Amino acid sequence: MNIHDALEQLKEEMEHDTALPLYGSANLVFGEGDSHARVVFIGEAPGRREDALRRPFVGQSGKLLDKMFAKIGWPRESVYITNIVKRRPPENRDPNPQEIAAHTPYLQRQIDIIDPAIIVTLGRFSMNYFLPEATISSAHGNAFQLESHNRLLVPLYHPAAALRSGKMMKAFTEDFQKLSEILENTSIRKKRGR
Ligand code: URA
Repeated sequence: MNIHDALEQLKEEMEHDTALPLYGSANLVFGEGDSHARVVFIGEAPGRREDALRRPFVGQSGKLLDKMFAKIGWPRESVYITNIVKRRPPENRDPNPQEIAAHTPYLQRQIDIIDPAIIVTLGRFSMNYFLPEATISSAHGNAFQLESHNRLLVPLYHPAAALRSGKMMKAFTEDFQKLSEILENTSIRKKRGR
C-alpha cells in the first residue's frame, strides 16, 4: 500500500474508534501535509477553529506557524502537521494523560508511515511523549537523536506560548530559523524513497 493510502486507512480507523476519548464530542483532526515529508510537526490538540475546519493549526497559532514557514522558505504543504491528541478537548483545556495515552499509538503509527527524518514538537505535551523527563525551557531549539528510530527530535515552544510572551517569541523565532540548518546537516535519510 502506498503512504497516502496507509494514512487514509489509519484516519478511517480513528474516525470509527468509539473507544477513543473525545469521540463524539469533537471532529477528528487527523493531520495534513506532504505524506512524504522529511519533517513532521506535532502540536497539542485542535482548538475551536481546527475543530470547525478539521485542519490542524488554522487559528492564531497556525497563523504564526505560517509566518515562520514563510520566513524560512518552507511551503506549509512541504511538511506534515498534526497533533498528539486529535480531537478538541472541551473548553480548550489541556489534554489529559488518558487522552494522550489513548492517542499515542495512533500518532506512532502515523509517524511510522510517514517516516520523517525530523520530528518538531510544539509545546510540552508532544515533547514529553518522546522525552518524558525534558523541560521545554531547557530542551527547546536543541536536536535530540531518537535512538530507536534513527530520527531527530527538535522541541520548540508552542506558538500560543510565543504569542503570549515576547521572550518566548524571540526563542521560538530563533529556534525555527535553526530548522533549515538542522535539516540540511542531518545525514538521516528516509528509509523509503519517494
Ligand atoms: N494548537 C495546537 O496544539 N494544535 C492545533 O492544531 C491548533 C492549536
